[in-house]
Amino acid sequence: MIIILLGAPGAGKGTQSNFISKSLGIPQISTGDMLRAAVKAGTPLGIQAKQIMDAGQLVSDEIIIGLVKDRLKEADCANGCLFDGFPRTIAQAEALRSDGIKIDHVVEINVEDRDIIERMSGRRVHPASGRTYHIQFNPPKTDGIDDETGDPLVQRADDEEETVKKRLEVYHELTSPLINYYLNLSSQNCTAKGPKYNRIKGTGKVEEIRDRILEAING
Ligand code: AP5
Ligand code: ZN
Repeated sequence: MIIILLGAPGAGKGTQSNFISKSLGIPQISTGDMLRAAVKAGTPLGIQAKQIMDAGQLVSDEIIIGLVKDRLKEADCANGCLFDGFPRTIAQAEALRSDGIKIDHVVEINVEDRDIIERMSGRRVHPASGRTYHIQFNPPKTDGIDDETGDPLVQRADDEEETVKKRLEVYHELTSPLINYYLNLSSQNCTAKGPKYNRIKGTGKVEEIRDRILEAING
């Protein structure tokens, strides 16, 4: 099964994809996590991407499409995958389509901008795995420590308030057009097994949102 999680920065894509990918036994493909790994490793891509990410802008379509194509060739993607943060532009969606990838579900996690800033300021992450917490809404068992590995948690460099505002602007300009793009595709193809479009309310408890998503996918 191939699933796309769509939503603004901080909507909860990473949090939910952790649950959903485990529950369905398919890998999570997060272009944000892939880029952060490249930044940490200090590769030429990472050095270039860091500046762009810290400015709240998008990395070029060409780089992202190349990264995703390589990732899809790996064996664990044979039974499908869960995309988190990809596609993020119409050009990226078209690249996926022209590759003949059949998308089963598009899940839009819907959260208002005013709720996003609060979420981002309290976010803490485990860099090696991408696991995400919130100091108030989804705290780790021990303050500042990852539940599974015991490693320290950190704040993301792009979670500073001004950068979050820029990321939201970029989302509305370049990524939110994908909502209509997939809605259209889903209505055109309703008899030909096109993607099913699911809009999920992204506020409430993390577990409630997980259940809404699983119900939409399995229903
Ligand atoms: P990326 O890592 O994809 O960031 P993003 O889309 O901005 O999304 P976030 O990771 O910030 O949020 P999320 O929706 O995953 O929310 P989370 O679950 O963490 O991309 C980073 C950068 O990389 C981009 O800006 C761009 O530069 C580049 N990039 C990546 N992909 C690209 C692409 N395809 N093309 C071009 N450039 C690309 O949750 C947020 C917080 O809220 C957490 O603290 C969490 O614990 C908390 N939370 C979650 N659910 C709830 C809830 N129900 N109630 C309260 N709090 C909650
Ligand atoms: Zn994320």
